[in-house]
Formats: sequence, C-alpha cells, structure tokens
Amino acid sequence: MRVILLGAPGAGKGTQAGKIGERLSVPHIATGDLFRAAVSQGTELGKLAKSYMDQGELVPDQVTVRMLLERLSQPDCRKGYILDGFPRTLEQAQALDTALAERGDKVDRTIYLEVSEAELVRRLSGRWICPVCQTPYHEVTNPPRTPRRCDKEGAALYQRDDDKPETVKTRLAVYFQQTVPLIQHYARQGLLRRVNGEKEIQQVEREMVTSLR
Ligand code: AP5
Ligand code: MG
Repeated sequence: MRVILLGAPGAGKGTQAGKIGERLSVPHIATGDLFRAAVSQGTELGKLAKSYMDQGELVPDQVTVRMLLERLSQPDCRKGYILDGFPRTLEQAQALDTALAERGDKVDRTIYLEVSEAELVRRLSGRWICPVCQTPYHEVTNPPRTPRRCDKEGAALYQRDDDKPETVKTRLAVYFQQTVPLIQHYARQGLLRRVNGEKEIQQVEREMVTSLR
C-alpha cells in the first residue's frame, strides 16, 4: 500500500507514520529525515538542504524529487511505503504521480491530519527527538520514560534547530501557501481521508487505521 501522510509542521506525521509503517510492514519514508541524515553526514546534498531548512523554507523541488524517487527505487519499497513530508508542492505531487504511472502504479490513499495552528506551535516548542531512530517525543504530551532519553535507543534526545519560534512561523506560512493546495489535489482524485490529529496519539492512530481500510 502506498500512503501519503499530509499535515502541517507538528501535526504528528512522524509520530503516526512510524506506527502505521510498522503495522503495514512498509517503510516510513520522511524527506525531512533523509535531509537531516545528509546534513549530519556533511554531504553536498546536506549542505544545500541545510541552507533552506535553517530558514524554514522548502528545499528546491528538483533536488527533493530526485532524492525521494531514488529512495522509492530501493527493494524495501516494493510492497509500498508511507510518505511523511512528501509531496509538499503541486510540482512534487505531479512528479510522484508521473513516476508511479510510468510503472502502472498509483498512490492508494492520502491521509490529512488536521490540527489547529495554536496546537501546532505548542507541539513544536516542546518536541524532543531521538538522533538514532528519529522518534519524536513531547515534554508534556508524549514524554519518554526516562527524561530526555529515547525509550528504544537510550540515546540523549535533541531539539531541532528549525523548531525555534521564528523558524516555526516561516514553516507554517510556507505550509499554508505551498502544501495546502495538495489537499484539493488528492481530494479531486478521491484519495483523501481527513483525520482529526488533535486527539490523543493512540486515538489518532486508531482513526488512521480505520481510514486505511
Ligand atoms: P520535516 O522534517 O518534514 O518537518 P515538518 O513537515 O515541518 O513536520 P515536523 O516533523 O515538524 O512535524 P510532524 O508532523 O512530523 O510532527 P511530529 O510527529 O514530530 O521537514 C523539515 C524541513 O525539511 C522542511 O522545513 C524543509 O526545509 C525540508 N523538507 C522536508 N521535506 C521536504 C519536501 N518534500 N520538499 C522540500 N523541502 C522539504 O509531532 C510533533 C510533536 O507533537 C512531537 O513532540 C510529538 O510527540 C507531539 N505529538 C504528536 N502527535 C500528538 C498528539 N496526537 N497529541 C499530542 N502531542 C502529539
Ligand atoms: Mg516529522
């Protein structure tokens, strides 16, 4: 099954995509995680991506699409995948549609996680992430068992540079301008399901599972 998870910064895409990917036994592919890995490896792609991510802007479509399609060509994607943070522009959505159509494939379902702006800001300001497995935690709503340590890896959690209030503002503005039009794009194709992302994590997961049936 090929699933797209749409939602604003902080909507819970990473939190839910990890869980749903495990349930469906398909990889969770997050373009943000791929870029952050490239940044920490200090590659040319990482240097380029960092210059956009630090500003809260999108990495150019051409670079992003190339990286994503290369990831989708790996053997573990044959049975499907859950995409988190891609596509984010109409150009990216069209590039994905075209690449899939060339192989006689298509997106099976798009889930749009709806969360109010005030809640998004609350979530991003209290988020802590595992540098090893990328699991997001929240100091109030989703704390780890040991303070600031990942439950699975035991690694010290960190806060993302782009979760600073000024950068969050830009990320939200970019989302409303460039990514929101995708809701219509997938609704027109009859692929869109809306899920209230504001409920507690387990409830959101249950509703996502239902909407994937
Ligand atoms: P990316 O990493 O994709 O960031 P994002 O879209 O801004 O989304 P986030 O990861 O911030 O939020 P999330 O929805 O995953 O929320 P999470 O589950 O962590 O992209 C970063 C940057 O990379 C972009 O700005 C851009 O520069 C670049 N980039 C990436 N993809 C690109 C693309 N396709 N094209 C161009 N550029 C691209 O949850 C947030 C917090 O809330 C956590 O603390 C969590 O514990 C908590 N939480 C989650 N669910 C709940 C709940 N139900 N109740 C209470 N708390 C909850
Ligand atoms: Mg994320």
